[in-house]
Amino acid sequence: MAVIPVDIAGAPYEVRIGTGLLASLTEQCSGRLRKRRVPIVTDIRVHAAWGAVVENALREGGHEAVWRVLPPGEPSKSWEQLAATVDWLLAEEVERGDHILALGGGVIGDLTGFAAAILKRGCKFIQLPTTLLAQVDSSVGGKTAINTGAGKNLVGAFHQPALVLADLAVLDTLPERELKAGYAEVVKYGLLGDAEFFAWCDANGAAMLAGDPALREYAVAHSVAAKARIVQADEKETLGLRALLNLGHTFGHALEAQTGFSDRLLHGEGVALGMVLAARFSARRGLLPRASAEHVARHFAEIGMMSEIAALGLNCDGQALVAHMLHDKKMDAGTLPFVLMRGIGDAYLTKDVDLEEVGEFLDEELQRSV
Ligand code: NAD
Ligand code: GLY
Repeated sequence: MAVIPVDIAGAPYEVRIGTGLLASLTEQCSGRLRKRRVPIVTDIRVHAAWGAVVENALREGGHEAVWRVLPPGEPSKSWEQLAATVDWLLAEEVERGDHILALGGGVIGDLTGFAAAILKRGCKFIQLPTTLLAQVDSSVGGKTAINTGAGKNLVGAFHQPALVLADLAVLDTLPERELKAGYAEVVKYGLLGDAEFFAWCDANGAAMLAGDPALREYAVAHSVAAKARIVQADEKETLGLRALLNLGHTFGHALEAQTGFSDRLLHGEGVALGMVLAARFSARRGLLPRASAEHVARHFAEIGMMSEIAALGLNCDGQALVAHMLHDKKMDAGTLPFVLMRGIGDAYLTKDVDLEEVGEFLDEELQRSV
């Protein structure tokens, strides 16, 4: 098992990564489960795949799992599900010192974390991430949120978990498409600050996705360690460091918005395309060698992921995508910060981007032959 400490002042915690952590849940949570009844929020699919394992592990430790099982997918990050979850936790008489368990992907982690943040002005929670995306990104760092009619993740709080248990066994039941979407966030750590890790992804990404357990542990642990370093240095995203984690997200978010935040484009797939666009836009501005930008696109294509936005068949022009960017929550006094690249492993934040130029660039990309 790999253990990555996240040293946040006043709220330090561990991310443990290994196989079989859910099966030994009581032991892993030792001292944290104060009562017989343990409240767990999950979704239907995760409950079907892993509910029994969690329930048995808790029973063996003298606990009883009490479940709130939500519909799967993005619509569960809503005011309605937040209110119902908080009411349920109140009915369960959860106290500040109790730990609420979040068993699922980023949707469950974000919703449960936010519920924990506001319940009785802040309860403890434990992340049990079940997607690759959640293991390498969303379960670590304390961003919690729901969506509203005005957009994604617009209402939320920074609220760090008390513990993160990333059981690699759960990846065996994850659909391949979801696994690959999460892989985009792994590659992101290489592209934004670690050229050696991008080279590792080139050499090992396919075998990792195919199931090699040692490679999976390395990929998750290396990603979490990278995220921990950034979050420790800039927990609330005020210093321009944590913002680097948004590499590919501004372009990706526009693509997700244009496809209606639907199954047409998963978040991680949008991030992969967004990183290709960020790299090509950087090359267009003469910042990044064109060959490096094409290397990024080729990497995703070789893994079997979409690497050209033209393949999405969007019925829109570049300006329509830019219009989505203007609603981005990262807008700051009328300018939109972009994460661009000076090299593989050398991303930086800039506000010096002309959105008209972005629109022209996107027109070119939308018309590329695929
Ligand atoms: P998700 O939570 O919707 O899970 C994807 C799908 O996989 C769901 O249908 C789920 O039921 C299923 N699933 C999950 N684990 C499974 C397993 N082990 N076996 C079988 N099926 C399984 O999606 P996600 O990609 O994990 O998370 C996306 C969300 O994360 C978005 O809402 C995004 O905004 C958020 N996010 C948050 C942060 C953060 O820092 N808080 C970072 C990145 C993304
Ligand atoms: N996923 C971006 C962040 O945690 O800051």
